Amino acid sequence: MNSVSANRFDIIRPDDWHLHLRDGNMLQAVVADSARQFGRAIIMPNLKPAVTTTAAALAYRARIQAALAHSGAGGAAAAFQPLMTLYLTDQTAPDEIRRASDSGLIHGVKLYPAGATTHSDQGVTDLLGHCRATLEAMQKHGMPLLIHGEVTDPSVDLFDREAVFIDRVLGPLRRDFPALKVVLEHLTTAQGVAYVRDADGPVAATITAHHLLYNRNALFQGGLRPHWYCLPVLKRETHRQALLQAATSGNARFFLGTDSAPHLRSAKEQDCGCAGCYTARHAMALYAMAFDSVGELARLEGFASLHGPAFYGLPVNTGRLVLERHADQVPERLFDGAREIIPLAAGECLPWRVLDTSSEP
Ligand code: DOR
Ligand code: ZN
Repeated sequence: MNSVSANRFDIIRPDDWHLHLRDGNMLQAVVADSARQFGRAIIMPNLKPAVTTTAAALAYRARIQAALAHSGAGGAAAAFQPLMTLYLTDQTAPDEIRRASDSGLIHGVKLYPAGATTHSDQGVTDLLGHCRATLEAMQKHGMPLLIHGEVTDPSVDLFDREAVFIDRVLGPLRRDFPALKVVLEHLTTAQGVAYVRDADGPVAATITAHHLLYNRNALFQGGLRPHWYCLPVLKRETHRQALLQAATSGNARFFLGTDSAPHLRSAKEQDCGCAGCYTARHAMALYAMAFDSVGELARLEGFASLHGPAFYGLPVNTGRLVLERHADQVPERLFDGAREIIPLAAGECLPWRVLDTSSEP
């Protein structure tokens, strides 16, 4: 990090190691928000239908690049690279892993336990029962398994599902596949932090800005607040503190993944609203706010720009991103009527902003 002054600094251009871009109109609306800040992003495959094959992932990649070209995001944003993933199913064949690895464009395989979250109905019903040969192939090819780490057992309290997943699924998985690269996505608990910190072998975790900034009280602040609802759900304050400590510790096993997950306003504000927070527009300002809250802005570059590439075996980005201490209001709503999204922290004033890079060469 170069500290130009206490109020302005720049870091190596960061990456987002967990992002939902969707498809079609939604993709076209949101892609520039991420591209303006990040060099690359790991793109989640939970479309309808899910991205289960290398061919589908490469076709999706082409749609993302076309959307970017039409988004008006110029300068550094135009160089944004989508890093594709496959959606693991009970039927994913080991050969598909070889094809994905050979493509050089697919960087992970996502495990959604069936029923755990948005578009997870094609997900895995029994990981060690159905996917052993495929996990073997992933371990052999160095293909990371990106995990939505929650059990779906309805008898387990919603707030305990990550901790129970670690005991019931992650422990046995890592005993049987100790060399498999594993990313526990959107970590939300102190138990998750301890597991990742103390594990032997290639284990890492992404942490969202919203789990660093908010606890579960945000869901009920003055009433029921659907735009703070995501999965895994926000947890109690002690867990937020553990996540903030991990993210700002300098430990390279923890890195940035926004889990920005756009849903139409109409899909969130209803009887059974969708899970997901839209944070892409203000992502780096939100992370800067979290790191600043504990006086650790100097550790933001490692978390946002260095630890992820090291885990994925990729070079760090060459560009830079400038952050400035300057009040910036999050809009009340984004995009036009049919694509309306309410961003996280809508209407709030954030103390940091990213300097616009869209006119850079
Ligand atoms: O809140 C979430 N939204 N959690 C997920 O796991 C999926 C995501 C989405 O796709 O909307
Ligand atoms: Zn996600």
